[in-house]
Formats: sequence, C-alpha cells, structure tokens
Amino acid sequence: MRARQGRGGIKQTGGRGEAPGFGAALMARLDALARFTEVPGELTRRYLSPAHLEAMRQVAAWMADAGMSVRTDPLCSVFGRYEGRAAGAPAIMLGSHIDTVVNAGRYDGNLGVLAAIAVVEELARTGERLAHAIEVAAFGEEEGSRFPTHILTSSALTGAAAPALLDLKDADGISVREALAAAGGDAAAYRACRRKRGEIAAYLELHIEQGPVLEDEGLALGAVTAIQGSLRLRVTVEGFAGHAGTVPMGSRRDALAATSEMILAVERTALATPDLVATVGRLRPLPGITNVIPGSVEFTIDMRSPSDAVRRKAGKALLATLGEIARRRRVKLGAETYQENPAVVLDAGVVDTVAEAIAACGHAPKRLPSGAGHDAMIMQKFCPSGMIFLRCKDGVSHNPAESITVGDADLGVRVLLEAARRLDRRLAGKVRAGAQ
Ligand code: GLV
Ligand code: MN
Ligand code: MN
Repeated sequence: MRARQGRGGIKQTGGRGEAPGFGAALMARLDALARFTEVPGELTRRYLSPAHLEAMRQVAAWMADAGMSVRTDPLCSVFGRYEGRAAGAPAIMLGSHIDTVVNAGRYDGNLGVLAAIAVVEELARTGERLAHAIEVAAFGEEEGSRFPTHILTSSALTGAAAPALLDLKDADGISVREALAAAGGDAAAYRACRRKRGEIAAYLELHIEQGPVLEDEGLALGAVTAIQGSLRLRVTVEGFAGHAGTVPMGSRRDALAATSEMILAVERTALATPDLVATVGRLRPLPGITNVIPGSVEFTIDMRSPSDAVRRKAGKALLATLGEIARRRRVKLGAETYQENPAVVLDAGVVDTVAEAIAACGHAPKRLPSGAGHDAMIMQKFCPSGMIFLRCKDGVSHNPAESITVGDADLGVRVLLEAARRLDRRLAGKVRAGAQ
C-alpha cells in the first residue's frame, strides 16, 4: 500500500502487516527538499544561502499545512508549534538542522526535521493532543560549512551563542551579521532567540547514524547515549614563497611540504590513540600557483573523542609534534582553537524513553554513542535531550551516497511518535500550562 499525500500532508496508510505507511511520503519530501541547493547537480545548502532560505520557506509551508503555527527566529531557525491539550504548555521539541555540508547527502539533519513534521501531521490527523505542545525545530549552521562555528542557531536558542559569533566571516569575507541582514534575519535581535528554561521540557532528535554500527548488527534503530567531544583548530604555517624553477631544494622553506608532514602527524596521532579520530578537512596553500613555492598554508584539524581527557592529552601532544616539524623545516607555526565541545552524556530518562519506544515498535533497543556532533549536544545543556539513530547504508554520510530505506524512514517516524508520546507521559507531572 502506498502512502497518500494530500494537501501536502503525510498520511499513514500502513497498518499491522501492511507496507510502510509514513516512509514513501517522507522520502518524497526529503527528495523535494534536496532540490534546494546552491549547486545544481549536487546538494550544497549552506546556512543563509538562497537555497537555505528556500528550504526554510518550504519547511515552514509543510509545518503550516500540518496545523502548526510557524515562526522564524532572528537567526533563521524555523519553529512550528502544535499546541497540547492546554494552550501555552511547555513543549517537547523535535527537530534537527536543514543546512548541509558541501556536496552532502539528503538525510543528515533533514530527516529529523521532516520526520518531526510527519509526527505532528499524524497527531493532527487523529486529533490527538498531548499534555505538552510539540514544537518542530529546523536549525541552521549546525554543520559549520559556511562560517567557522557550528550548532549556531540551536546555541542561540539555549543562550550559549556569544555575540562574537555574529562577526565570524565566511570564505568570501561576509560576516554572519551581514549574511543575516541579506537573508531577512536580524543579528541585533539575536538575544530574542533565547528561550526561557522550562519552556522546552525536552528535546528529541531523529538522525541517521552516520556510522556502520546499526547496519553491522542488523538493527534499524538505536537510542543514543552520548555524543563525543570535539576540538577544532585553525593552523597557519608560514614559510617563504619563491620561484619553483630557481630555488634549490635544500634552501626552500616550503609551507606546503611542511604541512604535508604535519597532516601525516595528525593521522599518526589518531591511529596511535585509542578512541581518537582526527581529520584535516580544509587546506589553503598560498599563493596556490603552479610555479611558486607555497609561502603559507592554512589548514584545520578536527579531533574527536568520547573522552575529554584523551582528546586534551592528544591535542597537546600533537601541537608539540607540529612545533618540532616547524622548527626542523624552518617555518613558523600558529595554532588557534576556534571550537571546543566537551563530550555530552544525554539525559538518562530520555534515553530510556527512546529505548522503550524502540522496543514498543518491535525492535531491539540498542544503545550506542554518537561519533558526530548534533544540535542535541547543546540542547542537553538546556533541557533533557535524547536522540534516535536510524541506520544508513554502509554508514556513509557527508557524502551524496548517503542512503536510507523507505521502510526505515517509516520506522523512524513511528519510533519518534512513540517516543514523543512516552516522553509526554513521563514528563506530564511537570507540566503546568504556561509554566516557564
Ligand atoms: C556534524 O555533522 C559534525 O559532527 O561535524
Ligand atoms: Mn546532522
Ligand atoms: Mn552533518
């Protein structure tokens, strides 16, 4: 049986023993959203790009069609609200992000937002109201693919975004502040993004696993227990530019050759340290001309571990190694931490609720940590938060080959709905209409 899509709504058609009900329509929407891209032929949708603004409008339209009141905050998060039994009740927030990396897959982030809309559509279709309101959030600049920051708009919601973030610049020298002005946002009002504690009773994010664990174990879903911490460094290496044909090899101070050695040191450090991964993802050699010895290089290091102690120790040791390479090669080294996030343990009550919801939907309630960062890691500092992971093919993500099945998409919505209902009951004692 196929899902029907009426008035833009995802209708459940599958019953016991029938084909998936929410999956086909959800996949159709994920495909439709993937058409909002900066680069034809691939999915690149960076924060505040025209493609992001179009995606925001489409998501807002789907939220409104689902019966939600919709608003966009000054940093361009989109929120849809479906009231509970009493108007003004604290909300259970379901969501994720709609910005993407460059040449992305279509499920990272988007799945959690569109599945949350499908949950509200199902509640509205059956006239079901919970004790809590449901708010659906579509966050932006979770990835940090445009500006040198990440989880930006969810951080603003929690009050954790420092004003200096608004002055960060993208590769074209455009600041967050300027990009917001062009996009119809309002940097000056960013404090208005901040929610009061208690207004959001809990946060729940459905996301693809982005790793191979679930698929390897033959499981469709898992309850996320923790999110590993990360360190992001901006490194500069300064050598001396010169003529590629005339400067003898022995007298060069080639910044890119020195950087190559440093990149291998990054890899060696991670290979030699249990529970540590490290990546050099951005590299900018200057002047970047065939017949000029590179005079300087900028590169980034992304280092992650579930253990903050392991990450800190490895980070220190790595910097010492990079310093030795720089001295030996007579180049100048600069390193600046531009982001550091400690590991986050998700709320035990929400994790249990997610595990119970998975079991109630007939699946093994596997618990697993997250290797990737998510909006949930900042939301956990603000309200009890949890995540549901859905398996993705070969664990591939941040790649156009990202893939999930229709059946798993259906299951994702069912489990998210079941978890929201259970969370609502678990937290119901704490609900007071209008409580803050
Ligand atoms: C986000 O996907 C991150 O973990 O970098
Ligand atoms: Mn994501
Ligand atoms: Mn991502």
